[in-house]
Amino acid sequence: MAKVPVTFNLNNSEAAVFVDLGASLIDVLRRGIGDLTPKQGCAQGTCGACTVLIEGVPHLSCLTMAETVDGRAVVTVGGLADGPRLHALQVAFMEGFAAQCGFCTPGMLMAGKALLDRTPNPSRTEVIDAISGNLCRCTGYEPIVDAILSAAARMQGRAV
Ligand code: FES
Ligand code: FES
Repeated sequence: MAKVPVTFNLNNSEAAVFVDLGASLIDVLRRGIGDLTPKQGCAQGTCGACTVLIEGVPHLSCLTMAETVDGRAVVTVGGLADGPRLHALQVAFMEGFAAQCGFCTPGMLMAGKALLDRTPNPSRTEVIDAISGNLCRCTGYEPIVDAILSAAARMQGRAV
């Protein structure tokens, strides 16, 4: 299979890899680069566990061909914290018990980040809509929605 060079910004660092044409971005991230933070669940676009941000927009990395990110910026959940300092979303998920098995959590966090980046003070309905493509088998969703709202409040300097 033909290999093509792909260079992109991954979590604020340059990543350069040769990829098989048509290889999925999740495969390249996990197996090619070793970023194991995005999870592969269904591998067919239905669970959302593999969600990453490309130029700030959530994408399913299992359905994204790796060569399409050439020259672009990709953020995985591995890029969410600022060094040892967790992102407000991560703190809220932890404190609100919004993760149980944790398999959906990377995708939920990235969907939440994309929402809060564009809508810093979302309504509950907007949060529900933002994670509507992300499946969770454990939590019943309410703690996740609460955690995203709590993170929004913290980021706005409002009491939670
Ligand atoms: Fe990509 Fe399920 S692994 S949507
Ligand atoms: Fe287990 Fe969501 S915490 S799938």
